Amino acid sequence: MRDRASYVLDQNDVRLVLTSGLRPDSEITRFACSHGDGVKDVALTVPNATEAYRQAVQRGARSVVEPHWVEDDFGRVELAAIATYGENIHTFVSRDDYAGPYLPGYTSTTENGAPATGIGLQNIDHVVGNVELGRMEHWVEFYERAFGMTELIHFSDEAISTEYSALMSKVMMDGEGKIKFPINEPAEGKRKSQIEEYLDFYGGPGVQHVALATDDIVGTVQELEERGLRFLKTPIAYYDDLEDRVGEIDVDYDDLRRLGILADRDEEGYLLQIFTKTAQDRPTLFFEIIERHGSRGFGEGNFKALFEAIEREQALRGNL
Ligand code: FE2
Repeated sequence: MRDRASYVLDQNDVRLVLTSGLRPDSEITRFACSHGDGVKDVALTVPNATEAYRQAVQRGARSVVEPHWVEDDFGRVELAAIATYGENIHTFVSRDDYAGPYLPGYTSTTENGAPATGIGLQNIDHVVGNVELGRMEHWVEFYERAFGMTELIHFSDEAISTEYSALMSKVMMDGEGKIKFPINEPAEGKRKSQIEEYLDFYGGPGVQHVALATDDIVGTVQELEERGLRFLKTPIAYYDDLEDRVGEIDVDYDDLRRLGILADRDEEGYLLQIFTKTAQDRPTLFFEIIERHGSRGFGEGNFKALFEAIEREQALRGNL
């Protein structure tokens, strides 16, 4: 293509497409200029892109790309797209008739050496959107109406997590629980909302983080650290009462402490998670690595636990 280049990276069921503009007047160049690096398209596999598109548009979604087929020697793929918050879109992809590496126009390459071996990333667990103050409910209703999703009700103490995180969050989920879209808006809390900061620097609503699931978080995070990925630091005091809070888990608490991995438990089970620093200097997009054992939550208990850990350290310094 004359105005852009794209690279496709995959590992198990995770697939990321990185695109950059080749000309100053490319829409990709303009997007990167106004938002920095960010997520533009959260694409969804569907059995029938025309039908998914038709239903979404009929229920009020705005059309971005009408259904069409693209093809090459490997077969054909049907694509269509609709708009969501900010400048983001959802592309519907049906690829049952396609056997190529990704989409027509893309070729597989081992130019940079042998194919990578992977580090245990399995699939995309959830993709979180930040929207403006007062707009969360609008987008919750959008996903209910246009996509037939339902709100995942979980049993954290929402008032407590809101107080400590300064954000309000609702989670939209498809029928199988495979696709999860938490939506955040800023809230009054103990500190300035991180959502407000995101909206300032991103220039409007967009994707805050992409969570990648692993079945061996200790191994995955170790590999990522060795390869230079930087994670948020966890205060040592967080681990003082972690075992009492979370109980028996099948990894070593020492490994969690050493790597800064967080843990949380609810009625259904537990989860382990860690957040990267933002992917660039603008405080916008970051990634999460998550390992689930029954819990369908998002680590809400960690907001309060992290806050209390910071206060314990503050108290030790005599400043509380
Ligand atoms: Fe998350």
